[in-house]
Amino acid sequence: MSGRKRVVSGIRPTGDLHLGNYFGAIKNFVELQDKHECYFFVADLHALTTHPNPDNLAQNVKHTLVVYLASGVDPDKATLYVQSDVPEIPELYVYLNMIAYKGELERCPTFKEKIRQHPDNVNAGLLTYPVLMSADILIHRAHYVPVGKDQLPHLELTRTYARRFNNLYGVSVFPEPEPYHFLGEPIKVPGLDGTPKMSKTGSSEKGVIFLTDPPEVVQRKIMRAVTDSGPQQPNMPISEPIQNLLTLLRLVGGEEEADFFVEQYKKATIRYVDLKKTLAQKTIEFLKPIQERIKEYENNPQLLKQVVEKGIEKARESAQQTMELVRDAIGIRKLY
Ligand code: ADP
Ligand code: TRP
Repeated sequence: MSGRKRVVSGIRPTGDLHLGNYFGAIKNFVELQDKHECYFFVADLHALTTHPNPDNLAQNVKHTLVVYLASGVDPDKATLYVQSDVPEIPELYVYLNMIAYKGELERCPTFKEKIRQHPDNVNAGLLTYPVLMSADILIHRAHYVPVGKDQLPHLELTRTYARRFNNLYGVSVFPEPEPYHFLGEPIKVPGLDGTPKMSKTGSSEKGVIFLTDPPEVVQRKIMRAVTDSGPQQPNMPISEPIQNLLTLLRLVGGEEEADFFVEQYKKATIRYVDLKKTLAQKTIEFLKPIQERIKEYENNPQLLKQVVEKGIEKARESAQQTMELVRDAIGIRKLY
């Protein structure tokens, strides 16, 4: 990535944030804010597909903002806001819906998965979820989108809509945004319960390490993580549950320790209890400073208010510039 680019990403306020959100998305935000024009937001409109309780929704919006700040997102460097505070986003969503085809939305793997999970709530907002996400991204004419691997199908649709809009109207309003991850390509942080993706909405609680989990809870969840009966002989390929624990260990800063356990695995002398103890200790150390800052920001609603007010203003300024180009391209022009 060379030169100063525009970067956009958001997280749905659907519950407490976890290590998957941190390493899939937030850690990138902190890295990118030093070099690029960054817009990070709380995707509250996206959370409405599952009809959250209003008080929970409001609480989760606040929590997500607090976690952004506690993780090191700096409101002097990046623009931080809540999606529903920027009315230009739903306006762009309307226009993009006109170039989004039903068939391609129905084929989206995340839509198919949601139908499977909630067959009784297949609403139109769920079908057009990727269109709203595209509006979030295209509203700032973003070049890069730091997200976890699960979001790649949505980003592919965003690229399609950017291209389709430009072609239909013979303009070059939108760049085609690309995914970004500090490790080279987007990752999927595994759950501790054997699920392939740690998730606040998909996995069971015991498979997820929340950023706010106290040390004893982290310890308990990791000590109970799924393993197997261990390598039966030297040089066996590392099994998936153990690979998952090693991935987590590397992410929380235990590179050397992970290398050591790989060696032990190869020799078939690994003791899973030692691997788990090390992972628990490293995770607790990693979370400590974040948790301290979460407490500080939670107790400072005045600061949160200031951050968001400044963010809304900057986000709307950028959004309005895009919308002028979009409306003009479409032919929605002022007569009076
Ligand atoms: P969840 O899947 O827990 O409901 P979201 O869908 O709100 O979380 O995800 C917010 C961001 O965090 C997205 O960029 C998503 O790709 C990323 N993310 C969530 N879970 C993981 C994970 N297990 N591994 C990598 N990235 C993840
Ligand atoms: N769909 C994303 C998720 O479930 C959240 C999201 C909404 C998003 N709008 C976005 C991510 C724009 C990146 C850019 O995690």
